[in-house]
Amino acid sequence: VHVEVYLSPSDFAVLRARDLADAVAVVFDVLRATSTFVTALGHGARAVIPVETIEEALEARRRDPSLLLAGERNGLPIGADRTGSVAFDLGNSPREFTAERVVGRTIVSTTTNGTRALRACSGARETLAASFLNLDATARRVEGAGAERVIVVCAGTFEETALEDVLGAGAFIERLAATSLGDGARIALETWKGLGGNLEATLAASRNGAKLLSIPDLAGDVPFCAGRDAIPVVATMDDGGALRQRLLETGQVEIPSRL
Ligand code: MLT
Repeated sequence: VHVEVYLSPSDFAVLRARDLADAVAVVFDVLRATSTFVTALGHGARAVIPVETIEEALEARRRDPSLLLAGERNGLPIGADRTGSVAFDLGNSPREFTAERVVGRTIVSTTTNGTRALRACSGARETLAASFLNLDATARRVEGAGAERVIVVCAGTFEETALEDVLGAGAFIERLAATSLGDGARIALETWKGLGGNLEATLAASRNGAKLLSIPDLAGDVPFCAGRDAIPVVATMDDGGALRQRLLETGQVEIPSRL
């Protein structure tokens, strides 16, 4: 298996332009978009549809009023002041996506970087939403998919690389025991080996971690997102661009389970 890692959000444009048809794409937005989507699916959400803009989310809801609207701008929930009409139902804190809120529901989410990163990979043979919460399950799916080329995408923050996503990529590569690594993959692996020993403390010291910890309502997201393999679901994108839970054993898609 050859693994390439895209470290910066400026790579989204590169990914959109490249032929990814033979690649499996694994997207990390540890704090917090992919951690949140994995949590939603683990708690029985039917699907999570990542979209890039608030307008796209509102349009989807106009077409299907049963959809839940979720996401953030600048880390905070999207209120009526931003949409000019409705407030979104959920923000982007994984701890909001309880079974009580999401079981059986389809969620449309727009976040600053995570949803853009996932959309940028829509040309891949398979696209997976990954986080520390589902690291091992994602690695098992990639092994099961028999992929020869794996592209790991670090979603980052605004236009910058985010340390926590590089750590996730590095831990994933270590777990995957790949045979061939691009330079980006080596950077991620070495970063993980150097800093991953105390994951929660390293996340707390990252730019995004420190910001979340400074907001009382969101501080609990940091230890939550450090919970390695706490939610062992495979979050895979279907042909319509919706993330759904894939069962590892059968490869079957969409049987929402309650953890
Ligand atoms: C993103 O998509 O950029 C992040 O998930 C932002 C956040 O932590 O809410």
